[in-house]
Amino acid sequence: MSVIAIVGGQWGDEGKGKIIDFLAEKAKLVIRFSGGDNAGHTVINPYGEFRMHLVPSGIFYPQVTCIIGNGVVINPAVLLTELDELRSRSVDISHLIISDRAHLIMPYHALLDGLEEERRGKGALGTTRRGIGPAFADKVARLGIRAGNLLNKNIFLKQLSSTLELKNAILTKIYQHPPLLLEEIFEQYCHYGEQLAPFIKETSSIIGPAVARGEPILLEGAQGALLDPDFGTYPYVTSSSPLAGGGSIGTGIGPMAFDRVIGVFKAYITRVGSGPMPTELKDEVGELIREKAHEYGATTGRPRRCGWFDAVAGRFSVQVNGFSDIALTHLDIYDDFPLIKICTAYKFDNKILDSFPSDVAILERCQPIYEELPAWQVSTSKIHDFNQLPLEAHRYIARLEELLSCPVSCVTVGPKRDQMIKVRSIFSE
Ligand code: GDP
Ligand code: IMO
Ligand code: MG
Repeated sequence: MSVIAIVGGQWGDEGKGKIIDFLAEKAKLVIRFSGGDNAGHTVINPYGEFRMHLVPSGIFYPQVTCIIGNGVVINPAVLLTELDELRSRSVDISHLIISDRAHLIMPYHALLDGLEEERRGKGALGTTRRGIGPAFADKVARLGIRAGNLLNKNIFLKQLSSTLELKNAILTKIYQHPPLLLEEIFEQYCHYGEQLAPFIKETSSIIGPAVARGEPILLEGAQGALLDPDFGTYPYVTSSSPLAGGGSIGTGIGPMAFDRVIGVFKAYITRVGSGPMPTELKDEVGELIREKAHEYGATTGRPRRCGWFDAVAGRFSVQVNGFSDIALTHLDIYDDFPLIKICTAYKFDNKILDSFPSDVAILERCQPIYEELPAWQVSTSKIHDFNQLPLEAHRYIARLEELLSCPVSCVTVGPKRDQMIKVRSIFSE
């Protein structure tokens, strides 16, 4: 049994792509399980630098079967562009499979995402406007169109015409937007379908036996726990579950088969889009983190909000995911800091809170309580051996492990594949 889920522990962009790219060398299957092209997973390896939006970050290893799981929503145009880019840079994509159960992002989804954001005005959620929310809403409203439906034009046309009637009524009557044309979408999507058909398959017949054989399998999460629709900072969340539990539903692997659940955390914290973020630094320290770490969205290019590590949110994330391990990324960003702060509790109305509130109205008013630690002030970016890390870095990591009650199994000190320090082995070897 060797199913390992890699899950974002914060508000996304923790470096999941890099961790997958590193670990996939030993995997047989890598399965993306949630989100859509709102995700942007940066991978820097001998093939170059890539921003993966839908294709699993294990694609660079020809021996690894990569699956876009049933829990993902797919914009076929984005996927085809991503595949073209990979092909043009000599990456073999023949080992990619798309679950026939994955839902499709249709043109009205992206359009409605933008219109809904505009309607919200000042209360906008700051979505990626990729149509993610409307596509997942249609999935649960039983109005969705799945990848497998592209394989049968008659069924696809029937579904599309019935759904488009409703969407056009919303577009024209609520938003005073011109209707979308059935023929145009139908033709466009049939064309996408022809190109994607060789990849679309029923995937439980591939995944189930691989789990039964105990093959090493990585589940690639998107987003992060604090963007979960149930446990995140609702309504400033995404629309599918980025949690380890989402990894079960988004692949069809039962939770008992999970061997490990690795939470990826930055040594600090970032957030893109709106919503409360107690440790946000709106000063020169936040600016310094942003510039040093190039904290600009891999999908939208928006500047990411940066702040000190929030251990209250971190503990909550460990709890709702049941993390067995932590992958701590971006340690190098603190290399020339004089000191580092960790938020260990919040102050709310003169009370001390050490648990993460469910209500954003409370979280918005929480003031972080910090603990200060000395930093190391030497470069860590070339270190490969855990024992070679400076004493202060060891202390910082140990303190995070203590605050989160979870062991750190690897530390990364730069964006490249080999800028990785293994603390303990991850695959049972
Ligand atoms: P993901 O969405 O979780 O895969 O993360 P992103 O790719 O959106 O954002 C992580 C960013 O940090 C990317 O630009 C990575 O190249 C970069 N990165 C990952 N790990 C490290 C690290 O340890 N140090 C530094 N300096 N950059 C890193
Ligand atoms: P990766 O996988 C960071 C955020 C958006 C917005 C909220 C809702 O790269 O970590 P959506 O378009 O999903 O409806 O937007 O979620 N968001 C992400 N933030 N990393 C991501 O993915 C994100 N995917 C969505 O910025 O605040
Ligand atoms: Mg990202």
